[in-house]
Amino acid sequence: MSVERLSTGVSGIDNILRGGIPKGFTIAVVGEPGTGKTVFSLHFMNAGLVNGEKGIYVTTEESRASIIRQASTLGMDFLQAVNRGDLVIIDALMGEKGDAWSLRELDVDELVNTVIEAKKYLGHGHTRLVIDSMSAFWLDKPAMARKYSYQVKRVLSKWDFTTVLTSQYAVTTSLGFGFGVEHVADGILRFRKRIVGGYLKRFIVVEKMRQTDHDKRVFEIDIVDGKGMVVVGPYALAREDFALPLSVLRKMVGAEVRKNLELYGGELEEE
Ligand SMILES: Nc1ncnc2c1ncn2[C@@H]1O[C@H](COP(=O)(O)OP(=O)(O)OP(=O)(O)O)[C@@H](O)[C@H]1O
Ligand SMILES: [Mg+2]
Repeated sequence: MSVERLSTGVSGIDNILRGGIPKGFTIAVVGEPGTGKTVFSLHFMNAGLVNGEKGIYVTTEESRASIIRQASTLGMDFLQAVNRGDLVIIDALMGEKGDAWSLRELDVDELVNTVIEAKKYLGHGHTRLVIDSMSAFWLDKPAMARKYSYQVKRVLSKWDFTTVLTSQYAVTTSLGFGFGVEHVADGILRFRKRIVGGYLKRFIVVEKMRQTDHDKRVFEIDIVDGKGMVVVGPYALAREDFALPLSVLRKMVGAEVRKNLELYGGELEEE
């Protein structure tokens, strides 16, 4: 059976995905700060816009103006798409009064309602949705990561979206860990960075993609001014190049166990 796929806007990543992201999927884009999650999300959105599709971009870490500026450094005209009525950028950072497309607080119900309002404004038909980042919604309550992710997926699945949800984690602490997005996602793209030979290198690996084959190798990527993300080629990483340090893994597992106890522990005892 053939699956309809959407271009990610990065041809090398489309190749890794055997043609792109299956339409209707929810993809988790995860990685540490500065690994390229936002740049990738901008490509995904722009690929739709240049193809005549509509888009909704929720930004929590940068203002709407900053997103428009970042996009323009990569040769993407988001301002024009907004003015055409093809793109809504929901600003969850500035929370400005009188701005219909901003969130007053990082509240998941408000997020979902505003996205649905934006969808109605854009009209019928398939729409690309980016939420960059989801982890911002549970920074002060990591135990909610999974529940919030599920809530967003469940409510928005009734609307015609293909979705990219970004999630970041700090490598040195367990703060802000959000395994939630990974759990509900149909696919996981993991970005990593590492200093190799005194040079900052970035990598991508597809960790999961339901219903489809994909390249299992780690690929080196680069971000080029005026052009954006490019895939350099497969990279033969040593295990220690890519694995998280053991101390970090321990913290992650510990945080996950605590979260599950908080979320489900009470219910389990009642049974
Ligand atoms: N116009 C550009 N030219 C070259 N490199 C760029 C350009 N714009 C961004 N970059 C690179 O992309 C990096 C930022 O990537 P990005 O914002 O996608 O990271 P991120 O994973 O979203 O991080 P965070 O978790 O902090 O949001 C910059 O540090 C820079 O190296
Ligand atoms: Mg970002």
